[in-house]
Amino acid sequence: MDNTTQDPLTPDFYDYPFDALSSVERDGAFLVLRWADGCEYRAFDRWLRENAVDRGGVHLATREGVMDPAHFAAGLVIGEASIVDGALVVRFDPEGVEASFHPGWLRHVAEGRHLTDTYIPNIVAWRPSDFGGEPPSYDGAEVMDDEATMRFWINDLLRYGLARLRNCPTEEDFLLEFAAKVGAVRDTNFGHIWDVKADVTMAGDDLTNSTANTNLRLPPHTDLPTRETPPGFQFLHCVVNETQGGNSTMADGAAVAAELEANHPEHYEALTTLKWVFFNRGPNIDHRWSGPMIDLGVDGSPLTFRAFHPVRGFPDMDQSDMPRAYAAMAAFSSIAASPEFEMSYPFAAGDIVGFDNRRVLHGRDQFSSGGKRHLRGIYIDQDEVRSFARVANRRHEFAQSTNQPQGDHHA
Ligand SMILES: [Fe+2]
Repeated sequence: MDNTTQDPLTPDFYDYPFDALSSVERDGAFLVLRWADGCEYRAFDRWLRENAVDRGGVHLATREGVMDPAHFAAGLVIGEASIVDGALVVRFDPEGVEASFHPGWLRHVAEGRHLTDTYIPNIVAWRPSDFGGEPPSYDGAEVMDDEATMRFWINDLLRYGLARLRNCPTEEDFLLEFAAKVGAVRDTNFGHIWDVKADVTMAGDDLTNSTANTNLRLPPHTDLPTRETPPGFQFLHCVVNETQGGNSTMADGAAVAAELEANHPEHYEALTTLKWVFFNRGPNIDHRWSGPMIDLGVDGSPLTFRAFHPVRGFPDMDQSDMPRAYAAMAAFSSIAASPEFEMSYPFAAGDIVGFDNRRVLHGRDQFSSGGKRHLRGIYIDQDEVRSFARVANRRHEFAQSTNQPQGDHHA
């Protein structure tokens, strides 16, 4: 984690290979930085100034910016720029402040690796046949105890939106112990950690209940489309399952969306544009949000399905659009539930299934009313899972680049 004494500090807490600069040249308010392999980056003077660590740009302890944009020095210019031992050294005038910049840090910006998708695996759309009908699976103890295995698991979770841990303890709070490894749990009106068991009673003043707590089939759906930002990831831990039937189901929304777009463009158009009001109802709650069933969001947003008929309340569209909205929804639901897209597999005690709640449509078959079935669930948002993956992948990459020993043993 530490920069060596001769390396310039970076405006963050990360390690970078020392990728020495070969030249610097001025071009107006920009410095043209070059590396020996031909990589080039044009660094803007004010951007460099506000990234000068411990020189009034970035705070040494927090590594956060401290420069108010209103307070750049009047007439700020780069007085002098040179390469010293491979690092960039700049004097900013008229302040006369001198700052050094780590060439590896500059290089990661030159390569666009400061952008949000860095260290996150690309999404791979899947069909059940790609995995032999069951989720990609890992041994729970290995993931919990071995950093390298944890990294493989988290990358699969992001890549496929689905990864299972097996042979986990069946203690009721194990899921919280597991979550502590990954990131902060997202609380909702269903609780920090919530139970899924067939125990529906009439809602009292303080009780919120759900169709999930019946033994009914749940078709492919996403949880909490009733929120502006539905929970990013969901983790379900099977504590007990003595029932018959009740297989879990998973369908990749990315694959379903691609199928709709390619072969049912009129439905795809309706599903991505016509909005519905979703709502969670309870004596003391009234959560609602309106959005299309396939919410493409702004550029860079994760694909978000809003699909759960028990909480879909009202069409929020022109009445003339309703026939095509219902037709598109019916087509979508039957494609998502078809064996071509939906996998169905038993949920055994000790399994934890993690999935991207906004991308992967989960469900279950109806199960017998005799015997116990107890699942516990938590949500962890996209931000937490992505942060965890970035840290793990960044450390792995740095270790590789400097040939440090590492524990990876999976192909
Ligand atoms: Fe659900």
